[in-house]
Amino acid sequence: MKSGEAAVGAFRDRFGAMPDLLIRSPGRVNLIGEHTDYNDGFVLPLAIERALWIALRARPDDTVRMWSALGDQREEFSLSALSRGGGWAAYVQGVAYELLRAGKNLAGWEGTIVSNIPTGAGLSSSAALELGVARAFAEVSPFPWDPVEMAVISQRAENDWVGMNCGIMDQLICAAGRADRALLIDCRTLTWTPALLPPGAVVVVLDTSTRRELVDSAYNDRRRSCEEAASAFGVAALRDLDWATLEGGRERLSPTVFRRARHVVLENRRTLDMAATLNEGNLIAAGELMKASHASMRDDFEISSPALDAMTEAALGSPGCYGARMTGGGFGGSCVALVAADRAGGFETQTLERYERATGLEGTAIPTRPTEGTSAEEVLPTKG
Ligand code: GLA
Repeated sequence: MKSGEAAVGAFRDRFGAMPDLLIRSPGRVNLIGEHTDYNDGFVLPLAIERALWIALRARPDDTVRMWSALGDQREEFSLSALSRGGGWAAYVQGVAYELLRAGKNLAGWEGTIVSNIPTGAGLSSSAALELGVARAFAEVSPFPWDPVEMAVISQRAENDWVGMNCGIMDQLICAAGRADRALLIDCRTLTWTPALLPPGAVVVVLDTSTRRELVDSAYNDRRRSCEEAASAFGVAALRDLDWATLEGGRERLSPTVFRRARHVVLENRRTLDMAATLNEGNLIAAGELMKASHASMRDDFEISSPALDAMTEAALGSPGCYGARMTGGGFGGSCVALVAADRAGGFETQTLERYERATGLEGTAIPTRPTEGTSAEEVLPTKG
């Protein structure tokens, strides 16, 4: 709740009054199912305890005024004159633009934004901002909060306004996260099945402190390879290909494209298996699937990095660790580990020590249980 209180405090400082509403929009970590979302496949993410908070009140006009603690910046724009700029405000205007395009009548608001999601760490701080802003508009305009609709609109903002060709995973888990559950999301039908994270386990996010901007990365290149593989087999998406068919027809693809496709096809299988093992409470089997996923991203999809490999190794050698892998888009950012809850403290210390010895870099451990997706609450006067 600390950052939520900070957002309310910042609102009082900036606007000299209490806000009406407080919005919480979480970051996410993906347990398994990487680069499968834009292949119509399966992912298994969870919303984390780190979140972005917006304290706000409605305005009587169509102006949006925001102050963000991310760099102490102020932004103001009119809903009738949106313009493409850069930085964090682009996400806000992009969401407003797509909501308007979807036919929503939007009201203006003013608010303060505070976040404790590290940026560039592969924890979806941008999806948290998009969904937080969508929620702000839903509350003040008002219109009903439909997590799937809002995730799709936010993804469009990121694809078409910001220019990052991401899949649906980040926005959907941020919008629809559930306490204590990871969500097995079918990225074709946009439906999901909750998978219980056994009570004896905790998820530890391990930020390598290395960064790579997704927009500049080989993300789009990987997408193209996947599309090429799907079209060589005459299927709509790699989701529709099984391993036997892919292997049997490997001469249709270049060796590189074959390895990219192998990652996606087997990763979809692992993701389905992982949801099943979690529901059975079989943490050992779940950990093995995470290890196999990391190897596949390192060797076949080639999106890991020396820092991500070193952090994964460090985690796997530390006490209480069932499994670990890099998570998110790749090339930098974070790993995720599944750890025995009663050994998490020792696990974190040892992993970060090993990581520093191997790389000279200082990492950060963020233990978390799964949390609820984007939500809004009224701010009561007594809370200030
Ligand atoms: C980024 C994208 C997601 C997904 C992951 C990789 O986080 O935003 O849509 O493709 O990379 O799994």
